[in-house]
Amino acid sequence: MAKDKLRVGLVCCAGIGASHVRCWRYLEDRAEIAAVMDVDPEMAQITARMSGDVPWTTDLDELVARDDVDAVDICSPPFAHADQVVAAAKAGKHVLCEKPITVNLEDADRAIAACKEAGVKFMLAFPRPFSPASRRLKEMVETEELGKPIRIYTAHHMRAEWLRKRTDWFWDPKMSGGTAVEGVIHDFHFLPWLMGPAKRIYAEAGTFIYTDRSPTLPDDQIVVLWRFENGAIGIIDGGANQPSNYGGHMSVFFTKGGIRMESGGFSIYRGMTTYHPVVEHVHHFGPVSDDREIARSPFTPTGQLGEIEHFVDCVLHDKQPETPAEEGRYALECAWAAIKSFQTSQPVSLPLEKPYPNY
Ligand SMILES: NC(=O)c1ccc[n+]([C@@H]2O[C@H](COP(=O)([O-])OP(=O)(O)OC[C@H]3O[C@@H](n4cnc5c(N)ncnc54)[C@H](O)[C@@H]3O)[C@@H](O)[C@H]2O)c1
Repeated sequence: MAKDKLRVGLVCCAGIGASHVRCWRYLEDRAEIAAVMDVDPEMAQITARMSGDVPWTTDLDELVARDDVDAVDICSPPFAHADQVVAAAKAGKHVLCEKPITVNLEDADRAIAACKEAGVKFMLAFPRPFSPASRRLKEMVETEELGKPIRIYTAHHMRAEWLRKRTDWFWDPKMSGGTAVEGVIHDFHFLPWLMGPAKRIYAEAGTFIYTDRSPTLPDDQIVVLWRFENGAIGIIDGGANQPSNYGGHMSVFFTKGGIRMESGGFSIYRGMTTYHPVVEHVHHFGPVSDDREIARSPFTPTGQLGEIEHFVDCVLHDKQPETPAEEGRYALECAWAAIKSFQTSQPVSLPLEKPYPNY
């Protein structure tokens, strides 16, 4: 694309959409929000004002038909993603889409096919791979600086009071995919991103807290065991009811040491023979470390900005996204393997075969 500024149509403005607006404004030298859309007219109007008095609409077709929109940033709930991606692709717009790619695998395939057919880029908005600490960790895995990775543990927790305020879609697994697909998808993406493809997944889950909010939500707590194709093993410990200041954390053990990642970054423990072998601390923060508005997320402070910046770069300079839609689909496939596992009390091998499971 031979332009020096990307013009974006923002689809859905509350929640993560508002957070994206801050990132787009931070990138104003190379991108601008040209128009916004939300089914809620008040939300669309407020966001249009926040974005520099740009045009707004409640009609997606109107947004994607605009000549001054090169790409769309889809921040809607999961059940709306597939149709919106397809509409954008048919109108020839590049797509950045919030996770999860969709609720079910058939819809993910439909959205990917539409973007391929239209020849537009389709990137999934996973912030973690864009944090400086995650990139350093990936380099350690690739270079085998601490030997081969053999075990990974990640704790992912969504905040209860934040969920309590949410619009109703989260509580219906047909609309959100439940905690596995909507929240823990960050880990279903991150673990294969770091360790390679999964061979087998086993999960246990249940609803312990939100029985009053939803009669159908199957999983406000979920634990997932992994066997990766490279032989390594892993655990995701996930939940939807964490105190706001609890944060997430992760450990990765290698044959010659390990790392422990928390909100500020991670500590490297080199060697197995020394009593206190901490030698290095890697910070999450990149160049915007003191921008608290952007650096809010405990796990990926600069990840979201990095992710959006990368999308701009891919479209303006015709590069392939580092988190393409196919990775979003693979994360969803792993999430569905976990759901199938806790539904059947059996380990599930990947890849999943058709007919795909669904809520
Ligand atoms: N990357 C992250 O860390 C992160 C964090 C939060 C949410 N998300 C993802 O972002 C998406 C939105 O989540 P949220 O928490 O911002 O939701 P939300 O409920 O806070 O906001 C959703 C917005 O979409 C609008 N909307 C609802 N249905 C719509 C439709 N059919 N068409 C157009 N607009 C519609 C609503 O009016 C609202 O403005 C989800 O896919 C979620 O998983 C990602």
